[in-house]
Amino acid sequence: MAHIQLDVNGARQSVDVEPRTLLVHALRDKLGLTGTHVGCDTSSCGACTVLIDGVSAKSCTVFALQVEGSAVTTIEGIGASDALHPMQEAFWAQHGLQCGYCTPGMIISAVDLLQRNPEPSDDQIREGLEGNLCRCTGYENIVRAVRAAAAAMREHQPRHSVAEMSSVAGGS
Ligand code: FES
Ligand code: FES
Repeated sequence: MAHIQLDVNGARQSVDVEPRTLLVHALRDKLGLTGTHVGCDTSSCGACTVLIDGVSAKSCTVFALQVEGSAVTTIEGIGASDALHPMQEAFWAQHGLQCGYCTPGMIISAVDLLQRNPEPSDDQIREGLEGNLCRCTGYENIVRAVRAAAAAMREHQPRHSVAEMSSVAGGS
């Protein structure tokens, strides 16, 4: 066992992990952050996507040991049930989900996309989310949701930063 420290959703956390423990399992099993999902064993679905130091990453492809000292943002750090992030509001308003299993990863990837490109075209949205698979909704409403969130976030300058998002604790 190794003892690591990392910031998760703005709070310092200490966790004991084995060298083989994946970040997704540390988040879910050690910290109870079950909004980060496991949808495959091939690193292809994106349900496990989180932000590591502000950049989206599939947490099933990273050992927990590798993120020691890093800042991790999960879906629980993006918004709260009484203070949804604009991306969460847009997924709800535009029917961007059905079962919701892919949704945390989709939202994290979409937030990362808008940080890099606040006004993406539909093609750029599709490209930005190509690492995230949805087995039930179809992607049209998801693209519409990201487009709506981008418009809402541009309207409410200054844009939401990762630091702001990380300060809003909550679950999904
Ligand atoms: S669980 Fe990580 S990509 Fe599918
Ligand atoms: S909403 Fe069900 S997998 Fe995407």
